[in-house]
Amino acid sequence: MNPLKRVVIFGATSAIAEQVARNLVSQGSHLYCVGRNSQKLEAIIQDLKVRGGNSQRIDGYSADLTDIAVHQRLIDEAKSFLGEIDAVLIAHGTLPNQQACQASVTQTLREVETNALSVVTLLTPLANLMEEQQHGVIAVISSVAGDRGRQSNYVYGASKGMISIFLQGLRNRLSNSNVDVVTIKPGFVDTPMTSEFDTSGFLWSTPERVANGIINAMKKGKGEVYLPGFWRGIMIVIKMIPEFIFKRMSL
Ligand SMILES: NC(=O)c1ccc[n+]([C@@H]2O[C@H](COP(=O)([O-])OP(=O)(O)OC[C@H]3O[C@@H](n4cnc5c(N)ncnc54)[C@H](OP(=O)(O)O)[C@@H]3O)[C@@H](O)[C@H]2O)c1
Repeated sequence: MNPLKRVVIFGATSAIAEQVARNLVSQGSHLYCVGRNSQKLEAIIQDLKVRGGNSQRIDGYSADLTDIAVHQRLIDEAKSFLGEIDAVLIAHGTLPNQQACQASVTQTLREVETNALSVVTLLTPLANLMEEQQHGVIAVISSVAGDRGRQSNYVYGASKGMISIFLQGLRNRLSNSNVDVVTIKPGFVDTPMTSEFDTSGFLWSTPERVANGIINAMKKGKGEVYLPGFWRGIMIVIKMIPEFIFKRMSL
């Protein structure tokens, strides 16, 4: 079991990440939270401090994670605040408007930068740090959307697919260094990201349920986890559909 004692969360203002942070604090973890919206981040940190015990160290820093120049400084500050980093969760992301991306290369590149490149640039120094200390767990929220490209969201799907493959390689590289790399693949979750959707169907889950699954997967050092678990079966079926049929489907 990985001890989730000293944890850094990137994208800490996400609804899913906030729930993970609450659960970790209730289990006694020390947290360093990085989020873009400074007011929202401050409110979350204050709330976590109220929930935590007096001896728990909880703080953070506000940063736009597409600004890759600040990544190393964020990692250094997290390490100096926590003493050592046992676990990292990378949660930030955006759900692009696919039509807008099709109409604009600039928009497409911005979405790829947020959902894929900024994650890769964070993972590179984090992986080196974990490899050097010879312990830890790195978890990233990818998506079921990264398992197969669909017309309705393939800019997002391609970005998440890149992250999933990158993490596969990283997991392979770090397997002899006592470092676990966890790919989190949620299905549909009712959060601000999906506020424009009808979230009432049985396929929809809650940040609370997904957060429990994330913490469980990080503790156990699972490689790849679908949340809720039934999405693994759904994606097996989706991936098995032959391309000559799939390309005609309206998905
Ligand atoms: N909701 C779903 O159905 C679903 C399904 C599969 C995967 N996911 C993934 O789950 C993760 C969490 O999303 P969520 O559902 O919790 O949605 P959310 O509440 O909208 O969270 C998304 C977070 O990403 C942050 N973010 C976006 N761009 C950023 C940047 N450049 N720098 C720093 N932070 C940035 C946003 O910060 P601000 O507060 O500043 O806007 C926001 O806090 C994402 O990676 C998402 O792709 C979600």
